[in-house]
Amino acid sequence: MRIAVAPGDGIGPEIIPPTVRILKELIPDLETVPVEVGLTRWRREGRAIAPEDFNVIRDCGCLLFGAITTPPDPDYSSVVVRLRKELDLYANIRPVKSNPLSPHSGVDFVVVRENLEGLYSGVEEINEEEARTTRVITRRGTERIARVACDHTRERLTIVHKANVLKSCALFRSVCREVAEERQVEYDEVLVDVAAYLLIRDPGRFDVIVASNLFGDILSDEAAGLVGGLGLCPSANVGDDYGMFEPVHGSAPDIAGQGIANPIGAILSAAMLLEWKGRGDEAHRVREAVDRALEDGYATPDLGGKDSTEEVANAVLDRL
Ligand code: NAI
Ligand code: MG
Repeated sequence: MRIAVAPGDGIGPEIIPPTVRILKELIPDLETVPVEVGLTRWRREGRAIAPEDFNVIRDCGCLLFGAITTPPDPDYSSVVVRLRKELDLYANIRPVKSNPLSPHSGVDFVVVRENLEGLYSGVEEINEEEARTTRVITRRGTERIARVACDHTRERLTIVHKANVLKSCALFRSVCREVAEERQVEYDEVLVDVAAYLLIRDPGRFDVIVASNLFGDILSDEAAGLVGGLGLCPSANVGDDYGMFEPVHGSAPDIAGQGIANPIGAILSAAMLLEWKGRGDEAHRVREAVDRALEDGYATPDLGGKDSTEEVANAVLDRL
């Protein structure tokens, strides 16, 4: 198995190497191809990623990604957004599941977020007096995200929208309905503001949430708070050909360099990579080992513990 690996900035280079060690324990012939992205490179070369890097990633088929710090340049365009666009990674899949240390037990749902359109379309006009961002929702984009969401649904798909106010949401809603009906998947619909409320009030009601880009971004970070924080949550950005797997959190400059970042979001992202590569058994072993390490009390300070990144990662490794 061959994968591209981009640790990035801040805590990225602290959480990715132990994650790669875990992958190598499971897949002894794993070959990793390093890709430098982020602020350090931007400072040196004036660019945070180079065109050749996209070819390396395409060649490997998938990328394990840490996090990057957004450079202080008004003209800078996000590397993560570029990777998603260039590789057509239209689905952002964020599982949210209680673990032995979570403040809420019984939370187990997946946010499936459209990753390329909506308010992140990049269609913007700005002048001194007025600024506009165009919210693009297409039938094709919605059909394909709804299909991915249906593939993940076990009990019920929840379509999140604001169709009572936004015309673009009316299209999103009706296309999601069509796909769910065609797939014979049970579904319901919740307005996005109510969804934000229900996530706190009754998180156990959700199975799979499908949402447009910004709504899914916000709801999935909120959801991370239900199970113990950003440091625990994994994500997959996938399209028909490529995949990019990254923890939900950013580069956490406030704790970078201290060796205390929680590696679990990155480790569970690697489990999603294994699943995507058809190595479901190994993915399952990683998740079990993470749960057992948490049950045995291993925890970084964000979870109220005293262990370092290395200690938590080694505890997972031992339990494999
Ligand atoms: P952040 O996710 O980096 O941090 C938010 C809070 O969560 C901080 O208090 C941080 O210490 C904590 N945290 C995050 N990950 C953690 C972990 N693994 N273990 C323990 N604590 C953790 O978000 P923030 O501070 O808004 O952004 C920092 C930088 O990251 C910015 O430059 C932002 O643009 C970038 N960013 C990058 C993302 C990516 O690469 N995909 C995603 C989000 C932000
Ligand atoms: Mg976010």
